[in-house]
Amino acid sequence: MILVTGATGRIGGRVVHELIAAGAAVRALTRRPDDVRLPGGAVAVYGDLLVAASVEPAFEGVDVAYLFPVPGWPVAALLAAARKAGVHRIVLLSSAPLPGGPGVIERQHRANEDAVRVSGLPWTFVRPSALMANDLSWAPAIRAEDTVYQAFPDASLAPVDEHDVAAVVAAALLDGDRAGHTYELSGPQPLTTVERVAILGEVLGRPLRFTELSPRELRTALAAGHPPAVADAMIGILAAATGTTAPILPGVHQATGGPPKTYAEWATRHASHFR
Ligand SMILES: NC(=O)c1ccc[n+]([C@@H]2O[C@H](COP(=O)([O-])OP(=O)(O)OC[C@H]3O[C@@H](n4cnc5c(N)ncnc54)[C@H](OP(=O)(O)O)[C@@H]3O)[C@@H](O)[C@H]2O)c1
Repeated sequence: MILVTGATGRIGGRVVHELIAAGAAVRALTRRPDDVRLPGGAVAVYGDLLVAASVEPAFEGVDVAYLFPVPGWPVAALLAAARKAGVHRIVLLSSAPLPGGPGVIERQHRANEDAVRVSGLPWTFVRPSALMANDLSWAPAIRAEDTVYQAFPDASLAPVDEHDVAAVVAAALLDGDRAGHTYELSGPQPLTTVERVAILGEVLGRPLRFTELSPRELRTALAAGHPPAVADAMIGILAAATGTTAPILPGVHQATGGPPKTYAEWATRHASHFR
């Protein structure tokens, strides 16, 4: 039995899909098991990752668990519960090294990794760079006025498709020989913000405008959905990525044997969000 947390999210949902397609028995953790639609065969169970005791029943009978980090989660207590229930192995979603060095976001991911190491459970770490899915935040303004409002037009990232992240997670869950491996993933190309806007416009078949925000304006927008320290860290990452060329990381190929998906492929799959 494989336990997938974050199972209704963009990465976790795809992980469930891949595992079911591979014939695995899957338990999917969610805070709303009565409302979710899962691929046939996956069983939804209740659990809140902020409350370790609520997840204990979900670990019973599980061989390997995918842990999706939620800010402020009691990671040591969750791992203790997993171990007590007899879970044999953990696959942890983490993060690649971020531009500008370890800030608050990267430090949190490394702390999660340290907690997993200390737990004594065999582990695989999946460390994606920026997710292509972050650009879905542009969808409302693109739909309304064909415009992307963003700061740092020349920030270079090599964003990775969430389906590739899920494929690496699924490969790690299905194959115990991946224990001890750390997979660092990016997409296939370094792309600046304006280059991504241009690709989106090509895929959508209409030119998109880019309106540059000041870092202060972007911070105000980010602070609406993130704690202040995280908003500051996101600004710092984009500032540090400006004028650089993002590194290409090998993890998708190492784990799946195939190339990572391009931004154009991702944009084509998500075109309906932008139309
Ligand atoms: N954005 C980036 O560039 C980047 C880069 C590297 C790593 N990451 C990591 O990627 C992850 C984002 O993944 P995603 O796109 O799959 O997220 P997502 O689509 O936003 O999914 C959110 C998921 O989190 C679950 N969730 C939230 N709070 C929960 C709680 N207290 N207890 C149980 N489940 C909870 C939700 O489940 P229910 O609502 O069903 O309970 C849902 O399945 C984050 O962990 C982030 O650290 C992001």
